[in-house]
Amino acid sequence: MTCDYKKGFADQTKEITVSSLEVEGVIPDWLSGTLVRNGPARFRLEGKTLNHWFDGLAMLHKFDIANGHISYANRFLDTPALRAAKDGKMKYGEFATDPCRSLFKRITQVFTGSTSGANANVSIGKIAKEFVAQTETPLPVAFDVDTLKTIGIVSYSDGLKGNLTTAHPHQDQGDQFNYLLSFGHKSTYNVYRLSDGSKKRQLIGSYSTGRPSYMHSFGLSQQYLILMEFPLVVNPISMLVRGKPFIANYTWKPERGTRFSLVDRQTGEVRYAHTDEAWFGFHHVNAFDNNDHSKIDLDIIVYPDADVVQYFYLNSLLNKRNQEAYPKNELRRFTIDVPAGTVSSRRLVDHSAELPRINYEQCNRKTYRYVYANGIARQGESAFLDTVVKFDLTGDVKEWRQDGQYPGESVFVARPDARSEDDGILLTVVLDSTANNSYLLLLDARDLSEIARASVPQHVPFGFHGAYIRS
Ligand SMILES: [Fe+2]
Repeated sequence: MTCDYKKGFADQTKEITVSSLEVEGVIPDWLSGTLVRNGPARFRLEGKTLNHWFDGLAMLHKFDIANGHISYANRFLDTPALRAAKDGKMKYGEFATDPCRSLFKRITQVFTGSTSGANANVSIGKIAKEFVAQTETPLPVAFDVDTLKTIGIVSYSDGLKGNLTTAHPHQDQGDQFNYLLSFGHKSTYNVYRLSDGSKKRQLIGSYSTGRPSYMHSFGLSQQYLILMEFPLVVNPISMLVRGKPFIANYTWKPERGTRFSLVDRQTGEVRYAHTDEAWFGFHHVNAFDNNDHSKIDLDIIVYPDADVVQYFYLNSLLNKRNQEAYPKNELRRFTIDVPAGTVSSRRLVDHSAELPRINYEQCNRKTYRYVYANGIARQGESAFLDTVVKFDLTGDVKEWRQDGQYPGESVFVARPDARSEDDGILLTVVLDSTANNSYLLLLDARDLSEIARASVPQHVPFGFHGAYIRS
């Protein structure tokens, strides 16, 4: 097993601007826009390594593509968490690291979110006219896409309250959808719609639960928002008093099985479905209804348990020897019979993968054929995601991989006159562990052949998600 991926978890504290990256290959003339990516870039504070990949301080990376040239810039997101770090302090609780020992402070942080470090290191979105960095605390941080300068935490013009959300809102016809989880003796999921250009979230529907689940994303079909509640659950009251970092309060209870809560997008009515099987996952891929909305197909990358959360602890990722390989997962389709409240499922692809993307503009909440993701070159041997994979749901798997190269999430950009679902380019930031730098890789999404690569003169730490903004 090679462990040279570890350079992807090394701090990158240099903020640079490069007006024209060295390019191998030819950038297509039609490709004109900006790829903005988000991810942690500083994992060491107060002389100690943070606990988890998800804990690192947010950095934005930007690739402007125009006229066959690519420029690059990177900048930390200027948040309370970053400012504390500049003073040499770890002041705020993150996903799996928490310096906060005072019960009063803990209650304030967990239940108001107002003193959160706003370390929005997961994804890129847009609220009203501003681009935002997003994470799972509901404090999106606006930034200027030209300069990458931080504008500040977005204030919504509504009274919706909650402690947790997802960094994966869905878009549909000018609206975006997400939920807020409000912790309490009974916790409440508040599902909302945010219209294009607005900062006022409109509540669609709510439901309560005694033991909320850790969910990183959700599904959207034509009719429903679908929350797949894995049996990784928390007792919010004991979370306050136990003094553990956020995710360490969640426990795996496979005997609960997996519940699907379906919130009707029009009426807010909530229906439930259940399977006795226990699943865990981070990323929904797509969802779609049948003609009369009585059945929903929900595609998601699932693991048989939540051990992958442990796998992403930096202590685990940075100290691996030869035993432990990337946890096995699969792309699985769950078919929900809405009136019956039952669920059946089948494996679509038996190939471990993460960070899935689709041709979202064309295929979101519709039948589709292709999934792009990061895969594992050698099942049971590779310790970290080391390939770009393309799943054709009719059966074929294509891969791009090279020794010592660690690609991140692939963002699909359709060709302007695209003739097929996969007629476009994948934009992927790759860590070259042999050269100790990174590059932006352009692949033809049809066959994963390389079109070009543009070298960044330093490494880009492993991040999570990005967005492509057309010029
Ligand atoms: Fe994610």
